[in-house]
Amino acid sequence: MSHSDLAVIILAAGKGTRMKSSLHKVLHPLGGHPMLHHLLDTLSTLSPARKIIVVGADKEQVEDSVGDQAEIIVQDPQLGTGHAVQVTRDKLGGFSGDVLVLYGDVPLLSAATLQGLLEVRHSSNNPAVVVLGFEPKDSKAYGRLVVDESGALMAIVEHKDATPEQREITLCNSGIMALDGAVMFDLLDGLRDDNAAGEFYLTDIVSIARMQGLDCAVSVAGETEVVGINSRRELAEAEAVFQAVKRQQFMEGGVTLIDPASVYFSYDTEIGADVTIEPNVFFGPGVVVENNVTIKGFCHFEGATIRSGATVGPYARLRPKADIGAGAKIGNFVEVKKSVVEPGAKISHLSYIGDSIIGAGANIGAGTITCNYDGFNKALTEIGKGAFIGSNTALVAPVKIGAGAIVGAGSVITREVSADALALTRAGTREIDGWAAAFRQKQENKKGK
Ligand code: UD1
Ligand code: CA
Repeated sequence: MSHSDLAVIILAAGKGTRMKSSLHKVLHPLGGHPMLHHLLDTLSTLSPARKIIVVGADKEQVEDSVGDQAEIIVQDPQLGTGHAVQVTRDKLGGFSGDVLVLYGDVPLLSAATLQGLLEVRHSSNNPAVVVLGFEPKDSKAYGRLVVDESGALMAIVEHKDATPEQREITLCNSGIMALDGAVMFDLLDGLRDDNAAGEFYLTDIVSIARMQGLDCAVSVAGETEVVGINSRRELAEAEAVFQAVKRQQFMEGGVTLIDPASVYFSYDTEIGADVTIEPNVFFGPGVVVENNVTIKGFCHFEGATIRSGATVGPYARLRPKADIGAGAKIGNFVEVKKSVVEPGAKISHLSYIGDSIIGAGANIGAGTITCNYDGFNKALTEIGKGAFIGSNTALVAPVKIGAGAIVGAGSVITREVSADALALTRAGTREIDGWAAAFRQKQENKKGK
């Protein structure tokens, strides 16, 4: 479904000073994904014809981050939310469809909520402005929605400008609106900055529309969807909301979380059915887990794939392009990076496996290290099917171990080992009968003197 009659404006020109960051506020991540990209992903299901992001003087960061996913327009100076929409006139003047106004720092909106807003916009009395309202536990400094007895929206009063009676109103402005593009810029021409903040408030568009005899309406959302993020503290609160939703979704999809609150997901984490995740596991971006996988406690993953029936952890670290095959086992204190671990292979303890292919059913002993980096370049380690690598082996890449080969414990392998061969590089064991007893006797005699 494509909406040739829908344009979206995302306001992001505010300074975001409370984040105390050199990173633009809307680029701070939630669930490993910049806030702004959460919005862009949600919008992709609405397929708007135009997406315009209004930024301040710091536009480069936003431009670099969104690429060609949206148009960028600069608002400088920033004279208020109404002025921010006015500056899109060059791009949207003449557009007569619906215009959705979103805030870059309100990233958790669902597509269904935005659809609902647009549906109200197209209800029988054809409201020119539909505002997304909510009832926060604490009304803080939010704008208040003034409605008449029929529920029609009459005005939005900013907290700073509100009378004590108006401050008693519990229905607040999330800031999100759906507007009739055919009249929007004409209505904005009526804005004035004679208010407590000395700004051109977008919210005044409601009373201006009413004065022209146009209807305005409210659509109500849950508080958690419209939380705004202005500080690191609010970012952490939004992250908590995001994680709670993810945990719920995964449990509903057939994932057992023994201690849900201790497991952290990314925006794009994919998990199959009958997966059990023990406490204290962190999923960075780009992780896919297939069915029937067990993830034991204290693991850290990013960019990894874990296939059906595999067991990972406790204390395992899977880095980008780790591909753990069906039924494979990755044990404690094992780090895997850019490696394919084929089905049924086992790396059970204390290993680093990087830039490698571990053949099906191979057994990698405790303390095996693939020496994949010489300080300049990375090189490949290939281990054949069913090979057995003894404990404390260093595999100096590039190197190949043939299928079914056995490498003796403590070896440093620097050249290819043939299939089914035994390779050993350890020094032989020398034994001197009675030496230890004689040594002890000699030392005791010395002390006794
Ligand atoms: C705004 C609303 C208020 C609402 C609240 C919800 C107005 C006048 N008030 O207040 O009713 O309850 O949001 O969070 O709209 N921005 C620009 N250019 C500007 C000013 C702001 O792009 O010149 C952007 C900001 O980056 C931000 C959004 O607009 O994404 C909201 O601006 P902010 O100053 O935070 O508005 P509030 O005072 O919180
Ligand atoms: Ca705000």
